[in-house]
Amino acid sequence: MADKPFGSVISDRMTVSVYEQDRFNVHELVAADALPLHPAAHVLHYGSACFEGLKAHRGSDGVVRLFRLDRHAERMRISADLLCLPDPPAELLTEMVRDTVRANLDDVPDPPGALYLRPVLIGTEPNIGAAARAARTALLYVIASPVGDYFDSSRTLTVAIETQLPRTTPQFGQVKTGANYAMALGITRQAAERYGADQVLFAPDGDVQETGAANFMMIDGNRIVTRALDSSFLHGVTRDSVLTIAREQGYDVEERNVGVPELVERTPQVEMALSGTAAVLAPVGALVLEGQRLTVGDGSPGPNTTKLRETLQAVQRAETPDRWGWTTEV
Ligand code: PLP
Ligand code: COI
Repeated sequence: MADKPFGSVISDRMTVSVYEQDRFNVHELVAADALPLHPAAHVLHYGSACFEGLKAHRGSDGVVRLFRLDRHAERMRISADLLCLPDPPAELLTEMVRDTVRANLDDVPDPPGALYLRPVLIGTEPNIGAAARAARTALLYVIASPVGDYFDSSRTLTVAIETQLPRTTPQFGQVKTGANYAMALGITRQAAERYGADQVLFAPDGDVQETGAANFMMIDGNRIVTRALDSSFLHGVTRDSVLTIAREQGYDVEERNVGVPELVERTPQVEMALSGTAAVLAPVGALVLEGQRLTVGDGSPGPNTTKLRETLQAVQRAETPDRWGWTTEV
């Protein structure tokens, strides 16, 4: 199953919790084939939806472990808050994710595959007059998908730089919500058609933020440069994990703003990579700026990107000690 396109296979069972009368009900395990949703549901009209993405990995010892479950639950609660959705308790979220993995345990592929978990929270109140207020009912559910690579790992990525249009509105930079992906979609599709780009790196007014589906970093020998956390972009759990591992391996980490001119100037000498749950740490081989193609380094995966990716995956698969308590057995 993990050889099918990323996310196109959905496991049979999901967990669901209904929010009504100011509380989330005890969750249930049900068939992952349909949702009870009224055509007037808040989410379908006013976009009250957020989601998460995390992975369960089968270790070389056969044990299945979730990676940084607590951080993903925490981020989902931030997204819910910014979208005026009800706050899902961390314990409910983590139990629903674990129960979803347990119910679909046979679907967890061997490495390099993983079971991708997608918790989703939507406003369900059937009321098309509720444009200016929060939905009073909601649905929290967790689906699972056995996945392989999101980006083809046999090649480096081409990333087009967008220097004008933003990826998100200012108040939703940190939110994992469909609206942000919808904003990036047309721009990404156009860059794919014109330049064969895999992703678009958003740098409104020349200020580098992130791509449509991953965070961005530049690696120059022993130094990693990436944007410091602010409200303009999604605070990637993979970003944090890579930076933590890198610091421990003796890299200097510079968290600061990077402008497009610096990026262009350093392109021949540095490595560039995209980090994310789906992306893992994917090497960038070329940038495209205003139609001009710039090769990153020699265009092949850099040694530091490869080393950091392998170390991260070794922790996820319990092949190396988990010093940070990042993995949870299901
Ligand atoms: N930025 C965007 C827009 C994403 O969709 C993702 C993927 O989840 C990331 C960054 C990386 O976040 P994480 O490493 O937590 O998966
Ligand atoms: C993730 O990495 O979890 C994402 O949400 C990216 C998505 C485009 C698959």
